Amino acid sequence: MNYSLGLDIGSHSIKLIELAREGKQLALAAAGSVATPSGALMSAGGAEITSVAESIKRLLKETGAKSKNIHIALPEAKVFTRVLEMPALSDRELSSAIQWEAEQYIPLPLDQVNLDYEVLRSSKDTGTNKMEILLVAAPKALLEKYLTILELAELTPLAAETEVLASTRALVRSLPNVKTVLMVSMGAQTTDIAILRSGILSFTRSLSAGGDALTRALGVGLDFNSTQAEEYKKTYGLEQNKLEGKIVTAVKPVMDTITAEIKRAFAFYQEKYKDEHVQAVVLSGGTSRLPGMVTYLAQSLGVEVQLANPWVGITRAPRFNVLTTEGPNFCVAVGLALRTE
Ligand SMILES: Nc1ncnc2c1ncn2[C@@H]1O[C@H](COP(=O)(O)OP(=O)(O)OP(=O)(O)O)[C@@H](O)[C@H]1O
Ligand SMILES: [Mg+2]
Repeated sequence: MNYSLGLDIGSHSIKLIELAREGKQLALAAAGSVATPSGALMSAGGAEITSVAESIKRLLKETGAKSKNIHIALPEAKVFTRVLEMPALSDRELSSAIQWEAEQYIPLPLDQVNLDYEVLRSSKDTGTNKMEILLVAAPKALLEKYLTILELAELTPLAAETEVLASTRALVRSLPNVKTVLMVSMGAQTTDIAILRSGILSFTRSLSAGGDALTRALGVGLDFNSTQAEEYKKTYGLEQNKLEGKIVTAVKPVMDTITAEIKRAFAFYQEKYKDEHVQAVVLSGGTSRLPGMVTYLAQSLGVEVQLANPWVGITRAPRFNVLTTEGPNFCVAVGLALRTE
């Protein structure tokens, strides 16, 4: 039996998933989440880093996870990613061409980032004479912070990737028959948008608006403190008929920002692939579970919207039944634990 551990360190909560693999069989071995110490990931301070590491240690103990080797995700908003089209090149030509591209697209000096790239589709796959490359640049300071946290938590990092790439791995398994999917991952501080074409990333974008912004808007609009606002948000959400529609009115500007960005992504895709369109929108992250979110987005976007189910193909013992509805929260962590390389 092989165990594989994924850890999603969010601004609001830290999520852990461990999968056991035997041949092709996958089973959930450990799962859980813990609140992120407040403000902990905002600064580079030593005390905050120690408190995150302590929380991770507690989570490892509570869930009974066996592995010490771990896959982590970097927040989309703090990493620069871009899907590039390049002429068909050999591996060697590509690695030097990437440097040139990076200088154009990465807003930081290249000696301050870790540069990585992946061939998404070769020129044979695209059917044109161009290949599609995913360029990823992670600030070295960000990586160092995560590495320090993991070291303090007595874990050994195996690999890091962006949150979007990790969730992709979890989501494509539940939608094998949909050619074009738009993923919206709604967390506390950010909303990440990505388009997958036949399971391969075609577009990504990160917005600094999420569940916290909804809570703030609700607090201001209804004159609630943040604890009350959070409670009302989770209870009534976006349901039009609750509190005479006052909640929906209060959070509408934030929702408008998010839907406008999704519509821009639709337009981008339509422009690029003339006869294709996004067939389904899949939601993940804690904020996707806001009551009424699925209906609200389906109405504003005019497409089919569904909640992500990362559990497809993963056997779960009855003690994990409570996680059935929590799937959207664990997409990144499941995607990380699904990594085989
Ligand atoms: N049942 C629920 N209904 C509505 N909102 C919820 C619910 N559960 C969690 N949330 C909201 O989801 C957010 C936390 O989601 P999540 O744990 O995915 O965030 P995170 O990964 O820590 O954040 P980020 O990825 O932005 O750093 C919070 O804003 C919280 O209020
Ligand atoms: Mg998150």
